[in-house]
Amino acid sequence: MTTLYEGAFAKLNLTLDVLGKRPDGYHDLQSVMQTVSIRDDIEIDIGTGKPWKLVCDKEGIPCDEHNLAWKAARVYCDAMNKDPEGLEIRITKRIPSGAGMGGGSADAAAVLRALNKHYGEPLSIGALAELGAQVGSDVPFCVICGTAMCEGRGERIRKLPDMPDCIIVVCKPEFSVSTPELYRKLDQVAIANRPDNQAMERALYAGDLEKIAHGLCNVFDPVVTADHLELNYIKSIFHQYGAVGYQMTGSGSACFAIVSEFEVAAVICSMLKDNYPNVFICKPV
Ligand code: C5P
Repeated sequence: MTTLYEGAFAKLNLTLDVLGKRPDGYHDLQSVMQTVSIRDDIEIDIGTGKPWKLVCDKEGIPCDEHNLAWKAARVYCDAMNKDPEGLEIRITKRIPSGAGMGGGSADAAAVLRALNKHYGEPLSIGALAELGAQVGSDVPFCVICGTAMCEGRGERIRKLPDMPDCIIVVCKPEFSVSTPELYRKLDQVAIANRPDNQAMERALYAGDLEKIAHGLCNVFDPVVTADHLELNYIKSIFHQYGAVGYQMTGSGSACFAIVSEFEVAAVICSMLKDNYPNVFICKPV
């Protein structure tokens, strides 16, 4: 039996624009995504000689074929015609679920990377990302990581320069949002404020953190905030204590703030932590 180890890193959306609904029911997106240092740990035992098994240290996570990590292993083995002869996936969860941080997608991507390494890297990272699209829309980006423009359903990925060093505070409120429901809601409203993705790309090429922070824009943010005014409270703390920019990530409910100094992050954390147990300090990776 062999044990594989792989890190699964969370993502944040610096921008997120929804361009329209497609005939297949999905939506065309344009989103600059960023990997951050909040991570789950994935261990995979290969060749257990027993039926497939998935274990997670956190309650409420599906531990069967509905888990994206399990799906990813299935998709990889089917596509590559491999039989691991029994497999156990263990997930140590730190990325909050229902946060818009791609936790499940990150786990799936880590499984794909680990299996591909184990079998001698028969797939390039691009081909692995393409395979990931069969598991979920955010999986291709989570395979590639870093800073990138993601288009189509999320599977067309163009790498961008690394985000400059900074500190990011993430706050995940108790509530979560159903992603399909949120897309349905968005279909019924006029989008007033869209990101300027070209400006975001220019800011990344210039390494200008202030412009990046000021260019943050997510079309889902006002839709979720309208139903959950506590997001305004979290953002007001970000604003009041010196964040350069802040917004909700993905379909929520986590919000994040870009700050330039650790001291600012520490103050924001101390102001939020009594009401919100899920506050994190992280950095772009
Ligand atoms: O691909 P994934 O399973 O992550 O998507 C979850 C749901 O989010 C889809 O069933 C769909 O309702 C919505 N979605 C979408 N357009 C995208 C990505 C997701 O409509 N580009």
